[in-house]
Amino acid sequence: MSVDYSRLNAIPLFASLKEEDLAYISSILKLVPYPAGQKVVCQGDEGETFYIVDTGQVRVIRKDESGAEAVVRFLGPGQFFGETALLYDEPRTATVETVVNTTLFYIEKDDFAAMVARLPSVRKQLEAAAGRRSKAMGLGRFDWQLSDEVAVWVAHRNVIPLIFESLSGLAVGIGIAVVLAALSLVQIPLLAKLPSTGRLLLGLGAVVVFSFTLIWYIFDWTNDFLVLTNRRVLHVERYGFLREVRNEVPIQAVQNVVTSHKGFLDAILGLSDITIETIGGKLKFTHVPGAEHLRERILDQHTRVQHEARREEREAIRSELLKVLRPPSQPSAPMPAPTVTQPAAASPRPKAKLSLRELLRPKLRLEKPGEIIWRKHWLLLIGRLVGPVALLLAGPASALTLSQWHTWFPRTQQLPIWAILVPLVLIPPASFWVWWAYAVWGGDIYTLTTDRIVDIERTPLGLKETRRESTLDRIQDIEVNIRGVWARVFDIGNVIIKTAGGDFTFRAVADPRGVQRDIFHRLAEFRRREQEQRRRQTMDEMTKWLSVYNELTIVPTQAGAEEKESG
Ligand code: CMP
Repeated sequence: MSVDYSRLNAIPLFASLKEEDLAYISSILKLVPYPAGQKVVCQGDEGETFYIVDTGQVRVIRKDESGAEAVVRFLGPGQFFGETALLYDEPRTATVETVVNTTLFYIEKDDFAAMVARLPSVRKQLEAAAGRRSKAMGLGRFDWQLSDEVAVWVAHRNVIPLIFESLSGLAVGIGIAVVLAALSLVQIPLLAKLPSTGRLLLGLGAVVVFSFTLIWYIFDWTNDFLVLTNRRVLHVERYGFLREVRNEVPIQAVQNVVTSHKGFLDAILGLSDITIETIGGKLKFTHVPGAEHLRERILDQHTRVQHEARREEREAIRSELLKVLRPPSQPSAPMPAPTVTQPAAASPRPKAKLSLRELLRPKLRLEKPGEIIWRKHWLLLIGRLVGPVALLLAGPASALTLSQWHTWFPRTQQLPIWAILVPLVLIPPASFWVWWAYAVWGGDIYTLTTDRIVDIERTPLGLKETRRESTLDRIQDIEVNIRGVWARVFDIGNVIIKTAGGDFTFRAVADPRGVQRDIFHRLAEFRRREQEQRRRQTMDEMTKWLSVYNELTIVPTQAGAEEKESG
């Protein structure tokens, strides 16, 4: 049975809808009663239906990898469930069963897809809920996730092949520890005279080397992961404490996903390597359990994104067609509220000049309306300034030293005044060098605008300028590379943006993960805007065609009718 739409006002999900939209919802919404204690959806099943509780109560139960079940939420009248599987074409993420006798509104899969394409405000609410709920489902909410981004798969490597791969390193570390331990314990003539504190130090050394080796490798084996979300694939790889590499590929950029396995161990343990290929490069993750499933899930996400775009386009065309085809006397068809978009702004010219205030406290990340500018880390500035500052100080320091010459060496002749003043001539060139080094550092900037990335290297006085730009739609992969202990301590790294036309490297920036996050957010925004623009263009074209069609079909018919009347 379909539903009287005046009741829909009470459902928060539909609270802001216009009457025509409520009428549309009521035409696709049905009611079904369930007795107490019955399963409505089962974790792992394919999603076919979206539900809203009308009366009664349901509970959401989640089973983790070990098979343990836990109730994560109770849902009552007006609350919904079953959106995640339908939005992201994923298996059901939890089981939902009735607690008491319950009536549920439900919408079938195809109608649900049409609804979210037609009503962006409903879609946003559903996506936000799915995002929040995925957090409660052990799929972690990562600091880089967008508000409507859902992690659908988190893969870790199997450690057994990694242990085998690191046997030589392990053997060296443990070997050194054993030798140190043996030296501290065994009485050999060479060490007979060693005092007991020496032996104690050797023993301590053995313990330190042994623990360090184990901690290093355990950290190394357990730290890498790959996350698939409804928007991207992100891969984090850490090499002990020394290096971190993060790659992320937007779902739209995925070209192929290849799984392969080699070796006896992978075959026994059911592990494979997975390679995600984009136009610009590859992202590889080795020894993954369930890699074939993961491959399918990535490809599903890719297909879903494409279908979604097509469906939204069709829906927009449908409502535009209705607008033109409806006779003017009839009320216009329900229109999806268009998402507010602004045309991509032309790339502004990023400012590289340092103001006086900035000169004293330079900012490494500057956010202005429409653009974000990054400078290289301040450690690089210090590196550049060491030489010129040393020279700048050398002048006054030597002048001071020479002026005291006679006090220190009373038997020598007093130095003439010119000998003391000569070192001071170093001051102007050294000051110029300091300014130059600072300005070169300040002129080396990376900019992200609403539609492009720009890499500018500028020397002072306009002597040299190199500027490379790429539009955001060419980005295939964003990689972060943090190399070395100091880089980790100071959070400094390279962000490599792989585009169809070559790589862009934002070198030695502070908070490289934050830079990666900013770029990804802008990229998602950019894609949304582009899609909307394309749709608008198609609709404009369509409207032109239809108004000509109207003129050709409706106007002659009216003219014919008028002719008949007069005849
Ligand atoms: P879906 O994965 O399609 O099917 C199971 C549903 O349970 C899921 O969509 C959500 O609607 C719902 N669900 C999962 N986790 C939670 C949660 N933490 N709170 C509320 N609902 C949830």
